[in-house]
Amino acid sequence: MLPQISSFSEYQDAYLRSISQPEMFWEEIAQAFEWRKPWEQTLNWNFTEPKIEWFAGGKLNITENCIDRHLANRGNQTAIIWEPNNPNDEVRKITYSQLSEQVNKFSNVLQAKGVAKGDRVCIYMPMVPEAAIAMLACARIGAIHSVVFAGFSSTSLSDRINDAACKVLITADGMLRGEKKIDLKQIADDAIKISPSIETCIVFDHKNFPIQMQNGRDFDWKELMSTSSAIHEATEMDSEDPLFILYTSGSTGKPKGVLHTTAGYMIYTAYTFKNVFQYQEQEVFCCTADIGWVTGHSYIVYGPLLNGATTLMFEGIPSYPDPGRFWSLIEKHRINIFYTAPTAIRALEVFGTEPFEGKDLSSLRVLGSVGEPINEEAWHWYHENVGKGNCPIVDTWWQTETGGILISPLANITPLKPAFATLPLPGVQLAILDEKGNELHGNSIEGNLCIKFPWPGMARSLYNDHERFKSAYFSTYANYYFTGDGCKKDEDGYIRITGRVDDVINVSGHRIGTGEVEDAINEHGYIIESAVVGFPHDIKGQGIWAFVICDREHHSYEELCNEAKAHVGKVIGAFARPDRIQVVKALPKTRSGKIMRRILRKIAEGDTSNLGDTSTLIDPSVVDLIKIGAEEIR
Ligand code: PRX
Repeated sequence: MLPQISSFSEYQDAYLRSISQPEMFWEEIAQAFEWRKPWEQTLNWNFTEPKIEWFAGGKLNITENCIDRHLANRGNQTAIIWEPNNPNDEVRKITYSQLSEQVNKFSNVLQAKGVAKGDRVCIYMPMVPEAAIAMLACARIGAIHSVVFAGFSSTSLSDRINDAACKVLITADGMLRGEKKIDLKQIADDAIKISPSIETCIVFDHKNFPIQMQNGRDFDWKELMSTSSAIHEATEMDSEDPLFILYTSGSTGKPKGVLHTTAGYMIYTAYTFKNVFQYQEQEVFCCTADIGWVTGHSYIVYGPLLNGATTLMFEGIPSYPDPGRFWSLIEKHRINIFYTAPTAIRALEVFGTEPFEGKDLSSLRVLGSVGEPINEEAWHWYHENVGKGNCPIVDTWWQTETGGILISPLANITPLKPAFATLPLPGVQLAILDEKGNELHGNSIEGNLCIKFPWPGMARSLYNDHERFKSAYFSTYANYYFTGDGCKKDEDGYIRITGRVDDVINVSGHRIGTGEVEDAINEHGYIIESAVVGFPHDIKGQGIWAFVICDREHHSYEELCNEAKAHVGKVIGAFARPDRIQVVKALPKTRSGKIMRRILRKIAEGDTSNLGDTSTLIDPSVVDLIKIGAEEIR
């Protein structure tokens, strides 16, 4: 049995053990899983190459742990509840036995299409159980899944397919998000035109939308499944064999293919799911993230299934058909644990308490928050209106690269402080460093958040680019994993995340690299240069502000800005559209040609009282002009 901490002193003990004897600590947890062959070496690591191996030599298949081992005792228990976009459409409930059958069948389908161990498979799907089935089938045959969020454009999709040279693309005809129709197959077709590695496209007919199928390349999911056998012997994987790639944004350059491996990720997501949420047998767990992001991977699919939990997948959006949708969802499915993002909470806060009227939320026991800092006001609103004052909020801090939650209260165990992610989980050795790279000690400190010892769920590399893995995370400070986040540690040793300290912005919990948005804007014929920064946004957390330079007169700057916004939507996806575009004559550049983003950030934040030293700028007068322009569009 996977250990479950049940008191604060147990947490403190576990934490101390995990630091003094990390290997022994994780070995004990690893015993709770099914191994085909035990591991030989628990941990082998250095943060210089960097090289991280957990449970080397062990053999297993994660799907035997997610599915097969539950069949004897909970074959008839619901594994996945699916709530459709339209609340009047039929709910689907899939038991562990049915999940097993579907995953085995789809494993055979993939194998028949020539997918073998180590091949990459791209999944571009709506929030339907088939997305999880596809992921699990990949894992069962040893293929590496790369799920791409279905809000990405065809260009972004093909960039990701090409980077990993995926052989198969799994998609659907389309989907509805609220009332918005998204033609996934059309987008997939456009992507495949520029993705030569794709040999096969498997299409799940979700909405019966009219689509074009290309003979010999495109196949219907249901047709393939109808003749597929429900038995598939899982492929034996090494602990360190890759499980999936998930692309995320960094400060610069193209998206990074974060690579996670099998055993460490499995153990870490399972352990954190059980302990952070304090999951109890038979409870219904609902995480509203999309499967295209890491939260969906770890806490809709892997973490819950590894624990034999019932996980709810919600296809829709919080505001459709009305702003009471989340609360109806909780009532309808008697949800016990509800895990969502601050941006959703802030968006719903605007509607007040009316959407709660007549809704019974008494099933709720634990609330969770993820993806961005939760401000105190939103925390209290969530606590009082949703949790009725008696559900703890676990504010979980983590990243695509960390695989699972690293800093969080344990529900009903860790004393809470609004807007604080509180304390590190067992096994997580935090370090707070100043700009010069000195590790700060004690309490009441502030600096850059790093981690100085490996935990099993951490990323092992960036797909096909280990050098970039090293430079992005292990070069800022020697021998530390640098998260890119800033934090404060208060007088009680509690951690509050203050946000990114690099050129990554967090818009509605979506992580966006400013460089990616700039590249997309610069494709506009009239724009020669741009600089993108984040600014505080009441609902989204951060909005996107782009300063652009045009090389010729445009008949309408408004039109130009709209075109540029639309273009970003087309190149990246609608979620990355800038909120504001400001045309400027020049950008604040130093003599070496570097844009002083710090100044632009301050202007976008509306905090221009102290812009700091501007003497190194080639032309400090551009700053005043930008300030005036910013006031006009604010
Ligand atoms: O800045 C932090 C923020 O989200 C970043 C990671 O984004 P991503 O890889 O997309 O993963 C999001 C879901 C785990 C972090 O570097 N972040 C995530 N959770 C929190 C947070 N910021 C503050 N508080 C959190 N609870």
